[in-house]
Amino acid sequence: MNALLQRLQIDLPLFQGPMTGSDTPQLAAAVSQAGGLGFLGCGMRSPQAMREAAAAVRAATAKPFGMNLFVLEQPTPDAATVQAAIDRLAPLYADLGLPPPEAPARWCEDFHAQFEALLDARPAVASFTFGILSAAQVRRLKDEADSYVIGTATTLAEAQAWAEVGADAVVASGMEAGGHRGTFLEDFEASMVGTLALVPQCVDALSIPVIAAGGIMDGRGIAAAQALGAQGVQLGTAFLACPESAIGPAQRTAMAGAQATDTRVTRIYSGRPARGLVNAMMERLAMHEAAVPAYPVQNALTGALRRAAAAQGRADYLSLWAGQGVGAARPLPAAQLVALLAQEWRDVSKSTAARH
Ligand SMILES: Cc1cc2nc3c(=O)[nH]c(=O)nc-3n(C[C@H](O)[C@H](O)[C@H](O)COP(=O)(O)O)c2cc1C
Repeated sequence: MNALLQRLQIDLPLFQGPMTGSDTPQLAAAVSQAGGLGFLGCGMRSPQAMREAAAAVRAATAKPFGMNLFVLEQPTPDAATVQAAIDRLAPLYADLGLPPPEAPARWCEDFHAQFEALLDARPAVASFTFGILSAAQVRRLKDEADSYVIGTATTLAEAQAWAEVGADAVVASGMEAGGHRGTFLEDFEASMVGTLALVPQCVDALSIPVIAAGGIMDGRGIAAAQALGAQGVQLGTAFLACPESAIGPAQRTAMAGAQATDTRVTRIYSGRPARGLVNAMMERLAMHEAAVPAYPVQNALTGALRRAAAAQGRADYLSLWAGQGVGAARPLPAAQLVALLAQEWRDVSKSTAARH
């Protein structure tokens, strides 16, 4: 795992995965300061918010960190599709004492403006999900911002596509992972490949480093990823439990009692398959799974509901993103978690070596 560490100037090949809406500059800075690589998930941050978040990380640490974007174009859904989605959501809004949602002026942040803000912020690492950059965009990140460019892949074909546009590395994200599937080439269902299957396929086929993501919660998971040939690991769910993350008390309580079997992959919150804890909202909208409009339309229409649920401390109408490893999450301060993961990883590696 040494080449990656040297290039990124970090001590541990351990990434705190970007977590749009749930990561904070404090979390990213703590992980980077502890020797890993902290990330800011900027998918829903405005260019101004991106600048502020990057400045906040830099105020807290001089160590490198990463920024992540959703590769996404502004959709143009037809009015009937939007109205049907609003009608399905209206009873849930009413439950929280809110009027039905309205179609917003725009459905998501402007990716191209975010991309320019990313170039200005010059993060050590720029990573992407939900789509793929052009070779020219990858070139710009390297030339203008000196960023190390990482693409997210959920299949071997996606990993190869990122290698072809010149990415420096890929995150191979298995279906165990919490949050949204990054799938952009093939059918979502066919792209539900597990980490143990996906990582070695990518390692064998690519000449760039592969970072394993999905279901890694402790030193055993890191050692296993290393044995599969990964040069680094990216953990989301494990860091979500840290006090520095942005999740509220209702979500923390829900996570604390949860097991792998409490998670499902669903489109109902956002229109893009994502893994989270089953709650009342997921169950009430399950029958509409196929009908909800694609990301980011449904995501925008459920946004006010989820924000209100968070403010009211109601886990039943929140999106409780979490991966299959959720039962092993440890609510430790991020620096302590990084130190513990590193220690466990060393211990497992030593005992595995001793057995041979
Ligand atoms: C709450 C949450 C939000 C996430 N948001 C993003 C994101 O904005 N961009 C991204 O590339 N990955 C995102 N992910 C994926 C993580 O960065 C990471 O790859 C994944 O969580 C690894 O799997 P694990 O949850 O089993 O550790 C998110 C994950 C979670 C749990």
